[in-house]
Amino acid sequence: MAPPVRVLFVCLGNICRSPSAHGVFRARVARAGLDGRIQVDSAGTGDWHIGQPPDARATAAAAARGIGLDDLRARQVEPADLEHFDYVLAMDEANLDALQALARSVPAARAQIALLGSFSQRYRDQSVPDPYFGGGQGFEQVLDMIEDAADGLLSALQSRLA
Ligand code: 4NP
Repeated sequence: MAPPVRVLFVCLGNICRSPSAHGVFRARVARAGLDGRIQVDSAGTGDWHIGQPPDARATAAAAARGIGLDDLRARQVEPADLEHFDYVLAMDEANLDALQALARSVPAARAQIALLGSFSQRYRDQSVPDPYFGGGQGFEQVLDMIEDAADGLLSALQSRLA
């Protein structure tokens, strides 16, 4: 059996957007019967929230769509992630810049680093806006954008695994 495809979602704090993407995508992977073939994780470029569960607003918005985030805990991106993961997918351009800068200091970096929106149909190449300092509607927008990109990402990986 081919090694699993490894996907890491990255935002700033790893408490709002990237854990939402982590929860949404792992649910789609499970529903597609691809547990074990696709591994999913998330991390933040910042270190403020290490060890914390996702923001309660993100957890509630995801739960309303049948997505569980409760078991997730924030961690910071580390250099080895760029060697371990096949895809490292940034929520916005600032996260993307930070990852590309990190990659320049990791000689063995092999991950494909891209904007999550590059897999989206409806929100092609758009950043997922940071919802942290806004209201509840921001978390709905985050999920709308993530769900659309997750569909495109799953299709791309299914082609790769076929
Ligand atoms: P996230 O949201 O990057 O989607 O997890 C944020 C969470 C915390 C902060 C910023 C963004 N913060 O500044 O603490």
